[in-house]
Amino acid sequence: MRAPREPFRIKMVEPIRATTREEREAALAAAGWNVFQLAARDVELDLLTDSGTGAMSQAQWAALMLGDESYAGSESFRRFRAAVEDVLGFPFVVPAHQGRGAEGVFFGAVIDEGEIVPSNAHFDTTRAHIEIRGGIALDFPVPEALDPGTWAPFKGDMDVAGLRELLDGPDGGRVSIVMLTITNNAGGGQPVSLANVRAVAEVARAHDKKLVLDIARFAENAWFVKQREDGYADVPLPEIVRALVADADAVLMSAKKDAIANIGGFVAIREDVEFFHRLQMRGIVSEGFPTYGGLAGRDLDAIAVGLREVLDEEYLRHRTEQVAFLGEALVEAGAAVVQPVGGHAVYVDAGATLPHVPVDAFPAWALSCELYLAGAVRAAEIGSVMAGRDPETGENRHPPLELLRLAVPRRVYTSRQLEHAADAIREILRDRDAVRGYELVAEAPVLRHFTARFAPLEERVAAPAPAEPAGA
Ligand SMILES: Cc1ncc(COP(=O)(O)O)c(C=O)c1O
Repeated sequence: MRAPREPFRIKMVEPIRATTREEREAALAAAGWNVFQLAARDVELDLLTDSGTGAMSQAQWAALMLGDESYAGSESFRRFRAAVEDVLGFPFVVPAHQGRGAEGVFFGAVIDEGEIVPSNAHFDTTRAHIEIRGGIALDFPVPEALDPGTWAPFKGDMDVAGLRELLDGPDGGRVSIVMLTITNNAGGGQPVSLANVRAVAEVARAHDKKLVLDIARFAENAWFVKQREDGYADVPLPEIVRALVADADAVLMSAKKDAIANIGGFVAIREDVEFFHRLQMRGIVSEGFPTYGGLAGRDLDAIAVGLREVLDEEYLRHRTEQVAFLGEALVEAGAAVVQPVGGHAVYVDAGATLPHVPVDAFPAWALSCELYLAGAVRAAEIGSVMAGRDPETGENRHPPLELLRLAVPRRVYTSRQLEHAADAIREILRDRDAVRGYELVAEAPVLRHFTARFAPLEERVAAPAPAEPAGA
């Protein structure tokens, strides 16, 4: 595949610092073998996330200058609310500092102890917000989502039969909302078809449940619907977006993704004014006054512009082609890559790429460390470390796939820079069997992957016992 042609030119540059292997070894050891703990200046190609890491357009930078920093009722909020209503059709919006802020506001208002929340696949912060309130987050992926080798157009879909079974069964009464995440990040960045959204909405409605969409990557999802779903090739993207959210009672948004902003989020609802006021009250205590929600006025303006800009077809074509280009380069380098490649990231199947590393030695985590050591490339594990522990048994959860996510920031790297990740993988796989597993040595009770500390397995076994107990 040839590198896709950029529909933009570069107006400002940020230098990247070159590092040596020795420097990287020291940096990673000091970071507790956790790439989240590295200093960004020690990273040359940062594919940790596509969240808030995008390059804003000249229109967004210009909009920043219009920011109205009034505490209440700012012009920036008015423009932000108009963009949300115009693009998505939801008139009631509560801004938040980012997606998880919106989740906190929303789930604080809806989750009671024992509440079950089914989804196509919960993202980790969503799961955490449900679980810390005593709720149970259940995933209902379609069977093909669990087969990384097969190509299917909408592997992000929800298993509608599984959902129906839950709602018809003895636990159906413990469900008040049904969720869909578009695109399905935890499930490989795969899109959800419009047909699936409609089928899920129908089942939810028939059982008197609310439908809530996590729309962090709504534009990428809409683009895949246009490309892959029968009957939508000629439908304008804004209409596809409206169709995707038409049945939702509420949407949760991280503006750090498909609003191409560096910060921000919101909850938006359609009509329930009493519920809206409850959300606003929740927002006030954690996010701020309802017309700024933890954001500067200028951030609200950048989001307002980004929400519209992201629907530019040339942008979305390049975006998805660039991610596909990275996927092909990684396959050529010898990695097992989840097919098809997702909208914002390539997911390497680390279990298949490093079959000699057992799941309890965290193969995807091991690959994240190797990738950094080989090429100063940072990527995120979506495997047993991120899955955390079962709240009831305390055992490590092992998801069906041990994935390493190489997320592509929006409009930031050239395709040649992305090829560097494939070069690093090629180097690692030249001596694949030398890759060691890892042992967890310290972890937090929630979202442990951000701060956990590890030790490479062999080194830890071989290391002499410390003379004094730690902290003595
Ligand atoms: C699908 C999805 N939902 C929610 C979030 C949380 O958003 P934020 O990082 O803005 O808190 C993310 C971000 O990573 C995400 O990918």
